[in-house]
Amino acid sequence: MHNTQTPRCAGVIGWPIAHSRSPRIHGYWLEQHNINGTYEAVAIEPNHLEAEVARLVASGWAGFNVTVPHKENIMKLLHTLSDDARMIGAVNTVVVQPDGTLYGHNTDAFGFTENLREAAPQHDLSAGPALVLGAGGAARAVLTALIAAGVPDIYITNRTHARAQLLAADFVDGPARLHVVPWDVRTKALKGCHTLVNTTSLGMKGQDALDMPLDKAPSDMLVHDIVYAPLMTPLLEAATARGLPTVTGIGMLLHQARWGFSAWFGVMPEVDDALRVRVLAP
Ligand code: ATR
Repeated sequence: MHNTQTPRCAGVIGWPIAHSRSPRIHGYWLEQHNINGTYEAVAIEPNHLEAEVARLVASGWAGFNVTVPHKENIMKLLHTLSDDARMIGAVNTVVVQPDGTLYGHNTDAFGFTENLREAAPQHDLSAGPALVLGAGGAARAVLTALIAAGVPDIYITNRTHARAQLLAADFVDGPARLHVVPWDVRTKALKGCHTLVNTTSLGMKGQDALDMPLDKAPSDMLVHDIVYAPLMTPLLEAATARGLPTVTGIGMLLHQARWGFSAWFGVMPEVDDALRVRVLAP
């Protein structure tokens, strides 16, 4: 733990960056663990990425989170990538190693798995098929986690079918059986499904609701929406009304942050109710 001498510095880079909830998360843990460290949001224009990252590293930063629009572009500035970063095709966490080289990881699959362990400990992902809605970066992370958890069959559906096919092709060498389902017949894939994950932005504040009737779903199917604003999305409301177990989106966001905090500040933090309240506050 670093509570003496020079402060350890970390932060989040993006453009724009004011919306980021990461400073609240890491600020909470820095206080909680009484660590002599800082975590700040730094706005970096896309054209200045290389020079600004070099500046942060030269000034002694321990590492940083990366958000839009830099998650892919940062990769060419890094010396080593984790397997997850490679599979997901994006980096959200960078660690400056003792020799000054930069290690890039994507902590979203870790966040997904850790959150489910906490929020639904009774749910065995490997006990049945999963249906993933969406084929963007978040879907890649969820797929990585589902495959690592031993889900036997994974159904992927996306408004833009070709994008789901590309996603499935990238993961086809793994142990799971992947099936791409046309978006307009997505409800059929609910039959026998054990886990449903929404990774689309539908249901988010200001967006249309997700049209996903749940009447064909088995009564023990877990419904996980990674949208967290609002916390109770229309999908989760519908699942609750049907008596299905649900997991809200905030936990994945909080749990994915733990990995970076541990790498930079030397303590693996926990997610607790006070943190949830702080991060969800307007
Ligand atoms: P992220 O990196 O957060 O996953 P993204 O790459 O922009 O973000 O992906 C957003 C996902 O939400 C995509 O699967 C997108 O579908 P398309 O690939 O067809 O764009 C999905 N999405 C967004 N708006 C949608 C809508 N109105 N109807 C259906 N799907 C939608």
